[in-house]
This record gives sequence, C-alpha cells and structure tokens, in this order.
Amino acid sequence: MCGIIGYLGKKNAAEEVYCGLERLEYRGYDSAGAAIIAADGKICAVKKQGRVENLKPYLRDIAGAIGIGHTRWATHGKPCDKNAHPHLCGGLALVHNGIIENYAALKAELVADGEEFLSETDSEVIVRLLKRNFKGDLLAALARTVERLKGSYAVMVICEGIDAIAVAKNRSSVILGYGNGEYFCASDEPALAGKCADICVPDDGDFAYITADGIEIYNKTLQRVIREKRPNTAAAQSLDLGGYPHYMLKELHEAPATIKNTAGAFAAVEDKLKAALCGVDRIIILGCGTAYHAGLVGRRYFEQFARVPAECENAGEFRYKNPVVTNKTAVFAISQSGETADTVEAARLALALGAEVVAVTNSLNSALTRIASVTVPVAAGSEICVAATKSYIGQIAALYLSALAFADCDRDGALKRGLAEMSALCGKTLGQVNTYSLANMCALSHGVYFLGRDIDYAVALEGSLKLKEVSYIHSEGYPAGELKHGTLALIDGDTVAVALIFDGGLAEKSCNAVEQVLSRGGRAAVITNVDSVKKRFAGRAQVIGLCACDKFLSPVLSAVAVQKLAYETAAILGRDPDKPRNLAKSVTVE
Ligand code: F6R
Repeated sequence: MCGIIGYLGKKNAAEEVYCGLERLEYRGYDSAGAAIIAADGKICAVKKQGRVENLKPYLRDIAGAIGIGHTRWATHGKPCDKNAHPHLCGGLALVHNGIIENYAALKAELVADGEEFLSETDSEVIVRLLKRNFKGDLLAALARTVERLKGSYAVMVICEGIDAIAVAKNRSSVILGYGNGEYFCASDEPALAGKCADICVPDDGDFAYITADGIEIYNKTLQRVIREKRPNTAAAQSLDLGGYPHYMLKELHEAPATIKNTAGAFAAVEDKLKAALCGVDRIIILGCGTAYHAGLVGRRYFEQFARVPAECENAGEFRYKNPVVTNKTAVFAISQSGETADTVEAARLALALGAEVVAVTNSLNSALTRIASVTVPVAAGSEICVAATKSYIGQIAALYLSALAFADCDRDGALKRGLAEMSALCGKTLGQVNTYSLANMCALSHGVYFLGRDIDYAVALEGSLKLKEVSYIHSEGYPAGELKHGTLALIDGDTVAVALIFDGGLAEKSCNAVEQVLSRGGRAAVITNVDSVKKRFAGRAQVIGLCACDKFLSPVLSAVAVQKLAYETAAILGRDPDKPRNLAKSVTVE
C-alpha cells in the first residue's frame, strides 16, 4: 500500500510533495516523509511517524525543485520514524509502494557483505542494492536493481548531483503527469488533480526518467517506448466536511444521491453490459471487505432474477484455489478504489481463464477498469472516510441493475423504479432512524453479534465489519440459525445480539435466535421493518423500526441503520471513524 509522489519543475518541490501527500494520505497514515534535492545539490530529508501534517513544520524551509514523498501503511516493520520512507543511502533517496517478497534473502546477502541496515522495512534493500549498482547512470542502476526484486513495487528515486527522478513499476500503480515545464509521478490520479494537463499510465515493467526536458519511458530492457497520454480529468477530492463532524457521517448522508446517480449512470452502460453477458451461464462476484459483502447481496439478485448459479467469493481466496471458470462465466469484480491488489489480480486471473470481466467501481480509470471489458459505475463520488458507507450502498444498486439487465426481466421498468424510490426511502431512514441508545449499549459491551438470514445475513456481515472497524469492539456476523451451533456459548450480560429482520417470510425463524439470546441473559436488539417483530420485542429488546420496502432492496435501509450504529458507537468511544487505527483506504498489497 502506501502513497508515493514525485515532483520536478520550477515550483517549490517541498510544497508540491506535501500537497500530493495530503491527497494520498488515505493510502496509509502510519508515517510520512519527503526528500528534496536542496539548493546546494544535497538531499534534505524529513520523516515522521504519524500523519502527513507532522511534516509541515520541517518542510517549510526546504528550497529545491525536485522531490519525492511517501505516506506509509506499515507492512514490514512497525510504524516509527526509522521505518518511514524515504530510505537514504550513499546520496540516494528512495520511496517504495508494494512488497518485496524476497527481501529477507536479499537483506541477508547484503548484511553478509557488510551492509548496515537502518530500518526493519523490505524497502530498504532496494536503496542498498541501488547504491551498489550505481556507477553514474541512475536509470541503468535502477534497472539492474529491480531485476533482483520479486514482488510488487512502484519506486521513485532521486540522487545527489543528478537533476532527475527515476521511476520503476511492477504491479503497483504509478501515474506520470505532464504539466507546463513541470512533471509529476504519483500513486494515483486524484493526487494530480488540477496539477497537470496530461497523464500517462506506464505498463508493468516500465521505467520512467523525469528531467526538466520531459519524461522518457523505457520498457524492461531499457528500450525507449511511447505510452499513450490522455487528458488529466481527475477532480480533486472536496475536503469540505459540509458541517458534519466526520466524513463518515457526511458520506452516509450522501447514500441517497449515490443510489440516484448510480441508476442514472447505469443507463449509459446497460446495452454494453447486456451484450457482454450474452451466453453467460454462471456469475462469480469477487471483492474484499465491504465490497465482498456487497457481492453477497448482489449474488442473490442474479439468482433471483436470472435463475443462474451465482457465487460470491473473497477475491484474495479466489486467486489461490485454481478456480473453475469457463468462457461462459462472467466475473463481477467489485472495488471502490479499483486498486485493491487481491481484487485486481483475481480479475486478471479470471480474464486469463476466459471469463467476461465486469468491473463495479467508483474509480473509472483504475487498474480494475483497465482489465474489465465493461465497467458498471458506482456514482458515489469520492469517499474519504476509510470505512466504506455510501460506496457499499452504491455497489448494491449497481449489482441490482446489472442483474436486472442480465435477466432482462424488467420490461415494464417496475423493478428499476423500485430502486429509484429507494433513494427517497434511504433519505427518510437517515433522518428518522435512531440508533443512539443501541450504540450506547454496544459501546459498553464486550462483543456484538449481528444476526440475519439470507440477504439480512449478508448485511449482518457488513454491520459487524463496520462496527469493529471504527469502534474496535469485537464483533461477528452470523446466520441467525447458526448461533445455536456454538456461538451461543459467548452470549452473556456483557454481549449484544443485533438481529436484522427484513423478510416477513423468514421473520419467525430469525426471531427464534433473538429469543435464544434473551433466554440466556443476553441483551438483544432488532432492526426490522416487520410490524409483528416490532410488537413482539417491544419492551424486551431494543427495537429499531424501519419502513416497509421490497425485501430485495431492504439492504439499502438496513445498511443505513448498521452504518449509523457503527458511527455513533465510535463517536461515543471517542474513536476517529475516518481514519481507524491500522487501516488505509486503498489496499494495494496482497
Ligand atoms: C471497510 C472497507 C474495506 C474495503 C476493502 C476493499 O469499510 O472499506 O473492507 O471495502 O478494503 O476495498 P475496495 O472496495 O477499494 O476494493
């Protein structure tokens, strides 16, 4: 993971690097650092544990026009100053995003040869190898160095005495930016929004050499190559909180607009999607974390509307199980960022095995969209909070519409109109749902168990993930009927069971699980739109009543309730829901 940025031009490089790092901070906030070639030609570096803002006072006085920076999500070595990038050695400074899988062997070899390491990171082996390979030609030395690396890397290097930035890339993203007499390299496009007119995405194995004369791109054998440039259309994220105390709450309130905009954007891809899915007899949905949970809901749509076998798998698992895929399989890869390494690589594998790959994403120019033959847009806008909220609801809307298109079962448009109505219902739910008392109960508990059946179970998993992620309270999601097969042993007066009950037909069955919890002295809550369930538990459990809606669209409402519950629990406990500990928004490593 991590975010990296490089600048070469006429402006103050420290300021440009800092601005880029602020925009890239969602990729990790364990530490940050920058290295600038100062006026005297020497490298001036700063690295600090914690957030990017910690660098500000140190960068203020550094003058120079060439610089690189890094914001870290720790993989090898704890978050601390010494493990922060850039790594420095012999007049070189290097930032790295990715994982060097053979670093232990390389490090042992270098240590045996007298090299002294200053950090616990995998990345430091790159700069130490580079120093040994450097004989005056930075690019040639970098090419020789990466030949030894196994794993994923986007690397940027500067060197005292050379007015250039050298870049290498393999399975980690790098975008090159062409401005007016200035050049950029960055982990993603939004970091370059408004900074340059054109961008270019180099291929895996490519190198870039950035000087005041421009950017030269080379392939892995160091032959000059031309890669397509395109206009930089990235929009800078609005950092405006709009009066909300946190982005999580703000973005949750943007869910109704997400449903509406996703439905609007779908019209433009519907025919292309239908054509791509022609002849498909099996659907596999892939994603990680929240996106995987959206897939669990979406799977039911394909089964219900199209009556084809539909599975949903964790993308990281799919990659390593020798999956059965044919050229009649469609793989829907879901990812808010479009850059999640497990999802991108799983999609690449599915493509290689002959599947039709469809991306469902917010990020229309991401690694995932470059693999897919069709992209179904999730029009959620940018999501700054690390915990996904509106994007989950948008992904459900996108999958609902995709299943309808594939099944071709909504000739009169009634089902689509049903989704459109959910936008208003979602807004109403946000205004009315009161989860505060339950949040207080959860904040004082030792564990929270989310229960549900069928589609409610899929949302129970997401409710549990959201709560643990932002409040740090232990939580699990279970099928309501599964509780009695073991987990019931954990129920006591310090635990809370939250049952989601949105299907009148299954209500009685789910209620049994709540009764089992209550009769063992556990505390319970029901989040439901079934009137008989509201009445049954009034006075015995916390009842959070929501309005009636179509069973298949109920995840839109139940998601709002569990997301709000998680937010309020985090707020009660004084956690920062926007940047939970140990996490990052975009998980670009395996
Ligand atoms: C949880 C959350 C994560 C992401 C997961 C996949 O709130 O946001 O679980 O859903 O890391 O990320 P994307 O969707 O970018 O592939």
